[in-house]
Amino acid sequence: MSSHSPQASPSLFIHPGERWLDTDGQPIQAHGGALLRLDGAWYWYGEDKTAHVNSKVTTVTGVSCYRSTDLLNWENLGLCLSAETDPASPLHPSKIVERPKVLFNALTGKFVMWMHLDASGYTFSRAGIAVADRPEGPFKLVRVQRGFAYDYGHPADDSRDQRTHGNSFLDMNLFLDDDGRAYVFHVSENLMTLYVSQLRDDFTDFRRPEKLGVTWNRALVNRLREGPAPFKHDGQYYLFTSGCTFWDPNATLLARAPHPLGPWENLGEPFVGPGAVHSHRSQPTSVFAMPGAPAGSFVFMADRWKPRELRDSRHVWLPFVMRGGTTTLDFRRQWDASIFTPKPAPAAPTLQGGLRYANSVFHPVGIRLEWPAVPGADGYRLYADGVAAAFTDETMIELPLPLPGVSQAYTVRAEALAGGQSPDSNPVTLRFGKPRPCYLSDCEPLSAFTGFGELVRDRAWEGEALRLGDRDYAKGLLAHVDSDLTYLIGNAYSRFTATIGLHAHRPAGQACFSVEADNREIFRSEAIRASGQPMEIDLPILGTRRLRLRAWNPETIGDGHAIWADALVHP
Ligand code: DGJ
Repeated sequence: MSSHSPQASPSLFIHPGERWLDTDGQPIQAHGGALLRLDGAWYWYGEDKTAHVNSKVTTVTGVSCYRSTDLLNWENLGLCLSAETDPASPLHPSKIVERPKVLFNALTGKFVMWMHLDASGYTFSRAGIAVADRPEGPFKLVRVQRGFAYDYGHPADDSRDQRTHGNSFLDMNLFLDDDGRAYVFHVSENLMTLYVSQLRDDFTDFRRPEKLGVTWNRALVNRLREGPAPFKHDGQYYLFTSGCTFWDPNATLLARAPHPLGPWENLGEPFVGPGAVHSHRSQPTSVFAMPGAPAGSFVFMADRWKPRELRDSRHVWLPFVMRGGTTTLDFRRQWDASIFTPKPAPAAPTLQGGLRYANSVFHPVGIRLEWPAVPGADGYRLYADGVAAAFTDETMIELPLPLPGVSQAYTVRAEALAGGQSPDSNPVTLRFGKPRPCYLSDCEPLSAFTGFGELVRDRAWEGEALRLGDRDYAKGLLAHVDSDLTYLIGNAYSRFTATIGLHAHRPAGQACFSVEADNREIFRSEAIRASGQPMEIDLPILGTRRLRLRAWNPETIGDGHAIWADALVHP
């Protein structure tokens, strides 16, 4: 996959996000996919989007199958499930076939594929199950169905009428446990809730009769998560998911459970730094354990969708290692399997840095930090005041400016994925200006997780003014619940003031707001509705280094557009 030009020269490295060519020199069409390992070979199944021109024309070509013995060079075995000409078929080119996954069933000796089948506009939302005798197919569709008729109390006017027809089935994945039991994870309840269900012994249906908590469960309830990518390590189950923003990338979350059916606990964002908000422009699709590497060595498979030309969507494969029951995900420009070979921790780098200026020495626009390459390091993690702020595999990084008057100490550690971290580098302490009243909407957060879309500043979505009650605000933050924003404010500020509430132009939803000063909660509101009164807060924050603003809906993430209007820190 070195692959800058269409030629069939062997690939030596993985280049996440670049065009990845098969052994015929053609871009690999296996989107929303996963791998199956069989007899020393790998099969990569995914959506063939050759016929997709843009996000409005979702022409189904079929499900592709590629084979490799080194995970780098992939031979196209052709379509293992093809589109059908009958307009009534769920595989007709006018329909939608997404996120196909295949397991081998040892009892029946068959290969079983599950996929999300849909109609244009995503109004059909069913599981498709297909079976083949050979890994490369041909697969034959044996079942098209919804999940279970679970009444989750959706509104009676729901256009998809799920109460009558049972629940919908959208983004999905399969998981085969060591005991031979298989599970399907799928998005349901009008996208709001992720389900997990055991499969019956031949893997061609849900285990029936279905019983909540016994054969299936609501794994992530009202969280609006997609792109489930489950895996197992050291007796625990893990699940990466994306947010739900159509083809646009968003923040990944990691969850953990003692059993595939749950309970699932949110471990937070595995990516850190400026790219975390969009997962380095990728969306999870699957995880596989790296063969021949120490236990806990995995690869995160993701899609970098190109909505205007879906067939040119890219594959983002990133290596990661489990440590202490969790992990981080880091974007790398290039890697190969040797990254998992145990090695000693690298030596500490020597850090240099300063402010960056654009047009005038009076107006810094950011921070630039650099260090010489450290032998044995395959990446570098930056810390701001001891808090992880970014990762890079380069020897330089640009970070946003701290707040005026905030003296921030930056350090860097060299890392080897399979060798741990160096000690801290020398600190580089930077500061500009003097503390002055600062709107947080003019400052860069250290991290900004929002339940849908991105953090919006000084306006609402679609450009309208931020409105609380009957008043418009020119300054403020709008973050879709659940949201979690962190600002590094040093010890330089003494008060935080804001007017909080839900955007009046979006009457649905509710949110509780909280403020933490260095992990100590200093404020928590009751649930506030868009129709309710906005609330003014004035909080002492003297001595605080990290200010954390959270807004969450106690019932559902629903439509809560949380506003921190006139959010100001004062010296
Ligand atoms: C996000 C899903 O993860 C994709 O598989 C696809 O369904 C897009 N949404 C469509 O907008």
